[in-house]
Amino acid sequence: MQHDPRTSPIVEPLFRLWSRVYDLGIFQAYYGRVHDRILELAPPEVASALDVGCGTGELLVKLARRWPDARLAGLDLSAPMLAQAAAKPFAAEVELVEGSVYATPFADGEFELVTNTLSSHFYRDFPAAARELTRVTAPGGRLMMASLGNGLRRLLPGGLGRESRMGAIIHRSPREQRRVLEDAGLVVEHVESIFPVGWLYVARRAQRT
Ligand SMILES: C[S@@+](CC[C@H](N)C(=O)[O-])C[C@H]1O[C@@H](n2cnc3c(N)ncnc32)[C@H](O)[C@@H]1O
Repeated sequence: MQHDPRTSPIVEPLFRLWSRVYDLGIFQAYYGRVHDRILELAPPEVASALDVGCGTGELLVKLARRWPDARLAGLDLSAPMLAQAAAKPFAAEVELVEGSVYATPFADGEFELVTNTLSSHFYRDFPAAARELTRVTAPGGRLMMASLGNGLRRLLPGGLGRESRMGAIIHRSPREQRRVLEDAGLVVEHVESIFPVGWLYVARRAQRT
């Protein structure tokens, strides 16, 4: 498949390596806390949810526990990360799809809830990704997104540029991220800082008029 320049060429090799250790407690201490906060803020009942950039499926495991009857799907660019998800006991209940945030195989408005955790800071074209995330969210449904802000800018090598050479992280302020979500047609209802360097957004897609 031809490489899409909207994703850094180092993202796939990075997650091929990272997939081997991603579920270790040292990483999940942060990611797990973000997932738990998403669950705290999520609507009480959801019939369908899609996790874009689902990685090893740790958030999906928790969504499946919370809503055992919901239709759940996860999409990720990295086959090795998805293979970790597919090996988990919940996987039979969940549709796992290899693909890109820029062109998901889902219909307009297919999911009541769309989640996207700690993935969007790898998207070079965040406006296009935000439009796709909005497209698959049902009118009146929610997008819940957590991402790094620009707090690591001074710490990562090359970090003073917009895209750090280490880790391909693209530094965007929470204000910029919020504006992109709004430009994509979402109403941002809640923004909070997730210690130490992340931001969490809860946004609603307007009802069709
Ligand atoms: C840090 S991991 C987060 C995984 C998971 N959401 C979590 O919270 O544990 C980032 C994930 O985003 C995925 N990703 C990066 N760019 C992507 C893109 N353009 N489309 C789909 N997934 C992408 C990576 O493959 C990786 O699995």
